[in-house]
Amino acid sequence: MLNRQDTAVFQRQLLHWYQEHHRKLPWRETRDPYKIWVSEIMLQQTTVQAVLPYYQKWLKRFPDVQTLSQAPLQKVLKAWEGLGYYQRAKNLHRAAKVITDRHQGIIPQDFLSLKALPGFGPYTTAAVLSFAFHKPYPVLDGNIRRVLMRLENIKQKAKPSVDKTLKPFLSSLFAPKNSSVFNQAFIELGALICRPQNPSCLLCPIQRFCLAFHHGTQEIIPLPKKMVTQKVNAVLGIIKHQDCYLIQKRPSQGLMADLWEFPGGKIKSGETLEQALRREIKEELGTNIDHERFLTQVTHSYTRFRVTLTAFACTLEKKPSLNPRTHRWVKPQEFQNFPFPSGSVKVIQYLRDKQNIDKEDGK
Ligand code: ADE
Ligand code: SF4
Repeated sequence: MLNRQDTAVFQRQLLHWYQEHHRKLPWRETRDPYKIWVSEIMLQQTTVQAVLPYYQKWLKRFPDVQTLSQAPLQKVLKAWEGLGYYQRAKNLHRAAKVITDRHQGIIPQDFLSLKALPGFGPYTTAAVLSFAFHKPYPVLDGNIRRVLMRLENIKQKAKPSVDKTLKPFLSSLFAPKNSSVFNQAFIELGALICRPQNPSCLLCPIQRFCLAFHHGTQEIIPLPKKMVTQKVNAVLGIIKHQDCYLIQKRPSQGLMADLWEFPGGKIKSGETLEQALRREIKEELGTNIDHERFLTQVTHSYTRFRVTLTAFACTLEKKPSLNPRTHRWVKPQEFQNFPFPSGSVKVIQYLRDKQNIDKEDGK
């Protein structure tokens, strides 16, 4: 902990650095709580660069709480396609409905009402209250957690039990009268200077208060989490009827819930790709494959696993009878109306490219 005088110097240096060096980002130019809320949800687990185009597009489609609350979930998920962690989009949508139904369409300004909304954890609640309403709540996100751990030379993994130590420390540094700028400045320092790798300690405005810098331990803090990335192999059946492809909706619970995909699934141990394909198609569509032909293989890395998708063009012994709520025949131009996981998007891109080549060949 710093004494009062050092705390004042710390705040002055940090805020001054921010004024000189911060990036102009759209959510920093507004005090509209809806826009700030959307930005904070998008920025969870996603970089600023990746968020920017989604953010602009989202605000065009859903400019306010009311518009979002009335939009169909499929449209909302489609606007989120590629950002990952789709639960975030569903919670935005659900919270917009609650705000419309129970708060006259106005985003609440007190901590408890706001935190009660779907998707509002302590971080998002404090961020919206601070950035939109200038209320005196410090925020603790991954960036700030890293900076604080380095300041205090806490050689541990970034885990919840560390937050217990960090919260009083953060409160002692916090500048309640400049809540919004202080929080943005801390986030920005973590993003631009006190980066996860290669922090720019020589340019750091708070270097003299940093214990890790004095001990030369900044690069190892926080200690790495052991992350096991699982490898997943799956097969997909690309089933075409006239100009349309068969797609199906994933269940509403679990991984990538409510997104669309091609029929297929994981390969079980001991199975060949073709055996897995035949088993999955039979299970999902209730009919046998007549003939299959390899089309393409794509890989995609998600946070916890890396999938390899092998797609086969299939013909079926008979046309399946399917529930239109969960299964659709769609033209390639219609793919854009359905949200897909990023791995499937790569397969769709392949189909589009192939269609263009086939056209040029006059097939
Ligand atoms: N990450 C989380 N919140 C952010 C913000 N307001 N600006 C930049 N990066 C962020
Ligand atoms: Fe981070 Fe280095 Fe600044 Fe310490 S001196 S806060 S490690 S950038």
